[in-house]
Amino acid sequence: MTVSTDPLGIGIVGAGFIADSHAQAAQGHPGLRLAAVNDRNPVAAAALAAKYGATVSPGLDELLADPAVDIVIIGTPNDTHAELALATAAAGKHLLLEKPLALSVADSQRVADAFTERGLTLLIGHTHRHSDYAMSVSAALQSGAVGTPRSMRLAIAGGWIWGSWGAWVLDPKRSGGHAFHNGVHLYDLAHWWMGSPVERVFTMGQKITAAALEIDDALVATLEFANGSTAVCEISRGERPRSTNVFEIVVHGTTGTLTRRWNSDGTVAFTDEVVGALGAAGTSPFGRQLGVMHDAIVNGTPVFPAVADAIHSIAIAVAVEQSARTGEVVDVSRQEGTKA
Ligand SMILES: NC(=O)c1ccc[n+]([C@@H]2O[C@H](COP(=O)([O-])OP(=O)(O)OC[C@H]3O[C@@H](n4cnc5c(N)ncnc54)[C@H](O)[C@@H]3O)[C@@H](O)[C@H]2O)c1
Repeated sequence: MTVSTDPLGIGIVGAGFIADSHAQAAQGHPGLRLAAVNDRNPVAAAALAAKYGATVSPGLDELLADPAVDIVIIGTPNDTHAELALATAAAGKHLLLEKPLALSVADSQRVADAFTERGLTLLIGHTHRHSDYAMSVSAALQSGAVGTPRSMRLAIAGGWIWGSWGAWVLDPKRSGGHAFHNGVHLYDLAHWWMGSPVERVFTMGQKITAAALEIDDALVATLEFANGSTAVCEISRGERPRSTNVFEIVVHGTTGTLTRRWNSDGTVAFTDEVVGALGAAGTSPFGRQLGVMHDAIVNGTPVFPAVADAIHSIAIAVAVEQSARTGEVVDVSRQEGTKA
């Protein structure tokens, strides 16, 4: 068998805010190149294509039929993900699908099955997993730096940035709400680091920016894991001033505590033996993510995170939003059993 060494061609669907990060990452990988761009807004598509020397596909069908496209990256609003992903699988292309995978567990499973059945690679864009900080926390916990993790607090709190988002993020039917839009990053990290599935969720939400909002711009979710440990995940886009950008991680384990602050130069561990930094910053998470995609297609390396983990994050997000609405503790496994 002859193995082609030509770079794999990428087709981006949705040339908005996040598309540029993917296009830049593709430029930095010798085995990848941006081949085509499609967007409902032809001006956005033309601008991204011109910047990276790609062609504009007038429609999704044209992009999916383009032999120069091996991998599709979908960076469109959340409510379009499932339908566009299913079309990509039907066209026989590999897919890097932006988070959230879909807006329901049933749709997420449908998408996952479509790629498995055809032997195609599907990677969900849980980009934080590929960040230096997230990898250093994971490595520290894996090495037993603080013993067995018992409780964690993850907080991403920022100011209002959604005014220019064409309002789709603020429409719960389109974004799914804040749990789907940004919360999934935290739920995915907490699940990964704790190494145990989430069983139950309790959430309180606030509409900080305006009472008229249809989504909560701040959510505090308490997750209970199957192993009895807990995580408090705070996600906010309602802080003052707008430039607020706080990101904090605290993990208490059986023998120590690990913490990381946004403006620190790395993760700090407090144990009986050591107080010190655990990791350095520097590599683009989008570059690493595309590297994972490339290795999966070319070498058969399993994708990271596994699609099953991304589906679990959707089940958690469903439960978080439901708990915020009802004020009740919600069983996550019940969401996962729901096929409708
Ligand atoms: N991984 C991350 O860290 C990260 C960060 C930001 C956004 N995202 C995700 O990326 C996706 C896009 O977010 P964004 O902030 O770039 O949004 P955006 O509004 O800036 O861009 C979306 C683009 O998609 C286009 N579009 C809409 N429907 C389309 C369709 N059916 N076909 C083709 N084009 C279509 C719009 O015209 C727009 O240009 C979302 O799912 C979001 O959750 C991920």
